[in-house]
This record gives sequence, structure tokens and C-alpha cells, in this order.
Amino acid sequence: MANENKLQAIIGHCKEYGYIFQSSEIYDGLSAVYDYGQYGAELKRNIRDYWWRSMTQMHENIVGIDAAIFMHPTVWKASGHVDNFSDPMIDNKDSKKRYRVDHLLEAHAETLSEEAGKALIDTMEQLLAANDFDGLRTLIMDNGIKCGVSGTANWTDVRQFNLMFATQLGSVAEEASEIYLRPETAQGIFVNFLNVQKTGRMKIPFGIAQTGKAFRNEIVARGFIFRMREFEQMEMQFFVKPGTQKEWYEYWKEARMKWHLSMGIPQEHYRFHDHVKLAHYADAACDIEYDFPMGFKEVEGIHSRTDFDLSQHQKFSGKKLTYFDTDINQHYVPYVVETSIGLDRTVMMVLSEAYKEEDLSTAEKQDSRVVLNLPPMLAPIKLAVLPLTKKDGLPELARELIDQCKPYFKCYYEEKDSIGKRYRRQDAIGTPFCITIDHQTKEDQTVTIRYRDSMTQERIALSSVRDLVMDKIKMF
Ligand code: GAP
Repeated sequence: MANENKLQAIIGHCKEYGYIFQSSEIYDGLSAVYDYGQYGAELKRNIRDYWWRSMTQMHENIVGIDAAIFMHPTVWKASGHVDNFSDPMIDNKDSKKRYRVDHLLEAHAETLSEEAGKALIDTMEQLLAANDFDGLRTLIMDNGIKCGVSGTANWTDVRQFNLMFATQLGSVAEEASEIYLRPETAQGIFVNFLNVQKTGRMKIPFGIAQTGKAFRNEIVARGFIFRMREFEQMEMQFFVKPGTQKEWYEYWKEARMKWHLSMGIPQEHYRFHDHVKLAHYADAACDIEYDFPMGFKEVEGIHSRTDFDLSQHQKFSGKKLTYFDTDINQHYVPYVVETSIGLDRTVMMVLSEAYKEEDLSTAEKQDSRVVLNLPPMLAPIKLAVLPLTKKDGLPELARELIDQCKPYFKCYYEEKDSIGKRYRRQDAIGTPFCITIDHQTKEDQTVTIRYRDSMTQERIALSSVRDLVMDKIKMF
């Protein structure tokens, strides 16, 4: 399937099967904001749990917190977001449409040959690294890039545009102070560094993890849930002894790639992209990119953030944020290696990987199905229980099985339509296992289990169903 078609097919499937809806759809939607439906919310929660447990349960030296979205406004001054969290933008004077310069150039590069496209991106990255806005505008002009709406190349100068959303804290307008919706969860970890270190008696190296909403006023928001204005991050800051950050950076690059591969996604769908233009806080940084339907794009960032954040908060708050290292009898401000992954982007990655349109035609008849080959541990529904008929005590047996299983994993009961149709509905939702209860079940206490991916069926003991599913959905 062509890539653009695949993206459209996934968007349509997500809406049809209760995964993801446009926010406020009955009011014609809100741009770049999405709601998760009944299955999307489960998938998202399972991915979040998998990440959380991989970090906090599988590492003795990583703990999780849940900091507030609102933070003291000085946090964002100290972190550099007030002054630096902006993207170079350019406006088309005829359509009045605003574009992110890198997006405009990247889209143009995709229309060129591989070699010419790469040369353009290399030049763009050098100009971005040098903050050379005139050079970027010249690059756009020299390539004859036109606005998609007006069709003209009547461009303004390139300017910076801050991405943070501001709001007012306090009810009386005169007394209200301006605060920001956090654009990343990381700062909630930095400002709690000492609270957690002292109360948790944490010894370096150690990590603090958190998941939560972040907000960015993205100008060019596109690609479904790839780039949203309200989204969720899963971030972990790993505090290390200065001088050891390089080895921890390499450690986390490898560990995070292993996490991605553990979801059954093949290595060739990933690549690392090392940053040429480093953010104001980093001494090394890379992205883990996944081959989305729109091509390879960032899903996670790994950043060696030096002691920038803690030093800045120390300076702006006037509070000491040092660690006393008993091994060397010295106080120091720890260095930090960060892993930062977008939860919504991970949902999109998992869905892109799982979505398949399969042709099942035989010589006798035409047939096809849409299936989500989700990893069983992440699937919204783990087990569908389907009585063959609505009578003869079969629904009661099905309910008994569900009662046995539901404290352990999410089940689904369905008695309407033919078994074939019911299987196909579960395939489309991504349910890995279906159990059919039939008349033989009453006689010998066996059931048919049907496997989503292979579509094979076998007869197993009713009493073995719960343990079989539990074994297949294990995270670790
Ligand atoms: N604390 C570092 C940080 O926030 P980032 O590269 O700006 O780094 C980290 O963001 C991750 O957050 C990205 O790799 C991406 O997965 C996700 N992300 C960033 N902006 C996003 C947006 N507008 N919509 C969805 N996900 C986004």
C-alpha cells in the first residue's frame, strides 16, 4: 500500500474502531488535538505501563514521580524555554500561512532525488546550527519553494516563534500572574531532584522517571497524532557523576533501542539520527527514528544534558542542588542523561507496525481482512469469549470464563452475528485470542481457541484458558 494511503487507512481505522477521534469532532474538530476512544485509551495505557515498569520496576535505581503541569514561571526562564524554545518560521505574504522552516525544506527535499534531497537537508542543518536566518530564507528562495495554499514564493523574513502556551494563575486579572503549560515533563523532575534524592536516599547513578501531558503551540501540526498541541511524554532523567556522561549516554542509547525491539518491531524499521544542531543544554544528542508511513521520523530523543538544568535552577532559585558523593567525599552538581519518548508517537508507531490489510482469497472465493497484529501485552482486549449460540446454556459458560479471567486481564463478550464475523471484528480491534464455547464444551469442558495472527484454531481445556493467556501477555 502506498505510504500516504497507509496513513489515511490507519486514521480511518482508528476512527471506525474506537481508537482515536478528532477532538471536539461535533464542532468540526480542534486542529492537532485528538481524543482516545475506548480501545485507544487501553492501548495507550498499556504502552505507558510497559514503559513505566521497564524503567521503575526493572531498574532498582530508577524511581517514578508525578509532578504538576503548572510550575513556577521562573522554572521556564531558568530552563531557557522563555528565551530559546522557539522555531524559525516563515510566512507567505499572499496566503498569510505560517510554516516551520525545517518542515518546508524537508517536504521539498522529499520531492528531490535521494542525493539532492540529502544535500539540501545537510545545508539546512548547517544553517540551523549557525542560526543563519538569512541563509535559510535564501535556501528557500533558491530552491523555488512555494506556499501550498497561494502557490507563490512571496516570503517574509525568517523569524523565531515561541512554542509555549501561556495562561493566567489567579482569579483577579490585576493580581494574576502569567504561567505556562509545561512544554516538557523534564523540568518537573529537575526541580524535585533533591526532594527525591534525599527522601529516597538515592545514590548516584540514579534515575527519576515520569509520564504526563506536555503542551506546545506547534505551528505546523500534521501527521495525525505524530505532532500534536497537547500530547504525552515519558521521560527519564539519569543523574550521573560528571565525566561519566558519555558512557551513560551510550548505555541508554542501547537500552532504549532494546526496549523498542522488545515490542517485536524489527531492527530495520529503526535508525539513530545524531544531532548536528545541539539544543542549548546538550553535549550530545540523538533521535531514535521509526519508519512511519510518512518515512523515518523521530519517536524518542536521548540527550546528554550536562549539568545545565540543575545549575540553572540553582542559580535562579538560590537553592543548592548539589549531591554529596561519599565515594569521593565531594559535593558536585550531577550531569544528566535524558531519555524522552512521546507516548502518542509510540501509539502511532505501534499502530503503524500492527496495521495489515490481508488478502485471504482462494480459488473458490474472494476474501480479505484488516488485522492489528498488536503485541499481546499491549492489545486493548486480550481475550474475546464467544458463545456459538445465544441458548443451551452457552452464554452462561462464556460468562463463567470471563468472571474467572477478568481480574487478570481485559475480556470481551460477544454473542451477535456469525462466529466468522465476530472473529473479523476482533482482528480489526487487535484481540490476540478468541475462545468459542460450543455444545461440546458442555460435554467435555473443552473450547476452541483461535489465534489472531495465524488464524489457526485448536481445542484446549476450558480450565487452561486463563493461564495460557496470562503467559502470552507477560511483559517481562
Ligand atoms: N525533554 C526533552 C524533550 O522534550 P523533545 O525532542 O522536544 O525533547 C521528546 O521531545 C519527545 O516528545 C519526541 O521525541 C516526541 O516523541 C515527543 N513530542 C515532542 N513534540 C511532540 C508533539 N508536538 N506531538 C507529539 N509528540 C511530541
